[in-house]
Amino acid sequence: MKLKAWMAVVAAIMVIAPAFAEPPDGKQIFLHGNGAGAMPCAACHGVDARGNTSIGAPKLAGLPVGVIESALAQFAHGGGGNASMQYIAQALNPAETDAVASYLANLK
Ligand code: HEC
Repeated sequence: MKLKAWMAVVAAIMVIAPAFAEPPDGKQIFLHGNGAGAMPCAACHGVDARGNTSIGAPKLAGLPVGVIESALAQFAHGGGGNASMQYIAQALNPAETDAVASYLANLK
């Protein structure tokens, strides 16, 4: 890569990096994943979290926080769910799980 290109990359990192110091953003995780193995939830559950019956992904919008968190905790321990959900649940840290659960609970 040329020097100019590197400078653009460094500048971009300087703009993006502070965002990672913030508490996790549930909407961001839902739409774009957590950048650490959890795929975007929206890819399977739909951008509005209404679910996708063709792949058996249930509606998540408006589920109580406790229901979402206990489902994720169960998946993370290999209890039920499909392989993708187990992997995703394991890839979310507790703060990210809280953030995404409260984002979903507040969706209508
Ligand atoms: C690769 C597709 C896929 C992705 C990506 C995905 N899910 Fe799922 N999810 C599913 C499927 C399929 C199920 C149903 C699993 C089952 O019940 O066996 C499910 C189930 C769930 C459930 C249980 C809901 C209930 O009513 O039982 C929760 C909660 C959940 N997903 C949250 C999430 C979150 C949060 C993310 C993003 C961090 C996510 N999912 C990403 C496919 C996906």
